[in-house]
Amino acid sequence: MSDAKTRAIEAYVRAYKRHPDHIIRAPGRVNIIGEHTDYNDGFVLPCAIDKDTVVAIGHRDGNAIEILSCDYDRRDIFSIDADIEKSPEAWANYGRGMVKYLLQSGYNLSPSRMSIAGDVPLGSGLSSSAALEMAVGRALIEQSGHKIDPTDLALIGQKAENQFVGCSCGIMDQLISAKASAEHAMLIDCRTLECSAIPIPQNSALLIVNSGITHSNSDGAYNERRAQCEKAARHYGVKALRDIDEKQLEAGKSGLDHLSYRRARHVVTENARTLAAADALQDNDLRELGQLMQQSHISMRDDFEITVPEIDQLADIMNDAIAQYCDGKGGARMTGGGFGGCVIALAPREYMDKIIDSIHHNYSKNDDKQLEMLISIPSTGVNII
Ligand code: GLA
Repeated sequence: MSDAKTRAIEAYVRAYKRHPDHIIRAPGRVNIIGEHTDYNDGFVLPCAIDKDTVVAIGHRDGNAIEILSCDYDRRDIFSIDADIEKSPEAWANYGRGMVKYLLQSGYNLSPSRMSIAGDVPLGSGLSSSAALEMAVGRALIEQSGHKIDPTDLALIGQKAENQFVGCSCGIMDQLISAKASAEHAMLIDCRTLECSAIPIPQNSALLIVNSGITHSNSDGAYNERRAQCEKAARHYGVKALRDIDEKQLEAGKSGLDHLSYRRARHVVTENARTLAAADALQDNDLRELGQLMQQSHISMRDDFEITVPEIDQLADIMNDAIAQYCDGKGGARMTGGGFGGCVIALAPREYMDKIIDSIHHNYSKNDDKQLEMLISIPSTGVNII
């Protein structure tokens, strides 16, 4: 039994003196390529990781929802008959937001009580928040005897995060946590929400290196990048940057300030790289995929400016190790919103130890910044366990 599952069940039994009716898990994610493209109606290629948020749920008398967080050691209780308001406690707003927008979408929810435990590292860019939203949402749907399309669940999660939690994220994290297939990555067209599962080569694995670095203003910087992209789309007269290619980017750049141009160049080239990476993965071509991942990192570093020096150093060390030990089969790049968080490598499984050794030898880390490393196999989306 996963650690989070054990903790969620034990906490439920301890708090409510009975066993839960259902146990639901939802995974965190890494993005192989396609960064800051989702809110530009573009393409992303994420996969779910084998770290989950687990919800134990059962009936509650009365008309309230009660949520117990094992990780924060806090409890939230609110009525489903009255308008659901924001809580002053940030963790509680993910649950409140899911309840609010499930109700608003016409799902009649049963009064319930839950306990939640997660083993997705918090605040590390692995989408613990989307995992929480998907697990809570699916648990409430199950407990209330409904069915829900996973894409609708993801959209409700995104709405909760945009309008209730206050982060203007795209759809990638919720959609992959809701719809992932085991041992597959997912190419997502973020305009049509069409998803195509692509197998990860059997002899390869994902190495996730959590730098332990978090940026104090990453939400502000994220929203700023989003605004810059929207400005560039207005300059080109299109709905979103998805609607132009590199040729159009160059041909129409006159009159656009250089910063907005560079932001747009990242998005336009990243969309092209993501489609090429999906083809490379489909063809089992780890060498081509690795090249695209490296180019993506450089574009995030130089054009989108969302990396930090420690993250650049980690990516360089991992790419050098892949060149040296894996004959260039694979690549490394920062994953997620940026300004810290994780660097991932997709490379042959047999060389993972060599890449890890290289990091230990070459990373000039500060004493207080501990690296966490995890070898992960892509897991399945939200489900009942
Ligand atoms: C965060 C957001 C996603 C996406 C990525 C960047 O994870 O939640 O919607 O924009 O950043 O690719």
